Amino acid sequence: MVLRTAIVWVHVLCGVVWVGASASIALAAVALSGEPEEWRKFATRAVPRINRVCVAAASVIPVTGIANLAFVARTYRGSLPPPFVAILSAKVALFAVMAAALWAVWGVGASIGASGASGAGNSGVGVRKLIALYATIVILGAMALGLGLWLSGT
Ligand code: HEM
Repeated sequence: MVLRTAIVWVHVLCGVVWVGASASIALAAVALSGEPEEWRKFATRAVPRINRVCVAAASVIPVTGIANLAFVARTYRGSLPPPFVAILSAKVALFAVMAAALWAVWGVGASIGASGASGAGNSGVGVRKLIALYATIVILGAMALGLGLWLSGT
């Protein structure tokens, strides 16, 4: 039981870290969107590092999620209730879109780190693209957190 609880907690913590880290960059980009020099300094220093934190958290979520599923399946002797399957499927779909958005910001983050001022993420368009991608992760992540809590109640 301790192992199951520990895995659920790591699962939830990784979801919260991913959503929280993405929100912090989206907010910083909005706050610094009128100051390209300040944004460039922040982006070059922070974006690649925060992306690494997000990738680590995102990588742990499916592993702990599948472990969660194994415990739940054992509780239900393998026949999962249809509402559980429906909610879980929605969570996996949300995770897939969030992972695709993280993949996209990883590319932009890498170009910021590699070429500083001229990086794609420092132009007006680049900053707006980053804000849109991180905002997508935050919104879908909040939905997944909500569905997760609903799931644990089914
Ligand atoms: C591949 C994707 C995922 C899988 C397979 C998965 C699987 C699961 C399972 C099976 C549970 C139920 C645990 C239980 O009742 O013992 C669960 C709970 C939960 N999941 Fe996920 N999940 C995934 C993605 C996510 C994401 C992306 C988030 C948030 C960003 C998230 C947040 C949560 C939360 C908050 C709970 C409730 C924990 C509790 O209070 O018991 N999950 N997940």
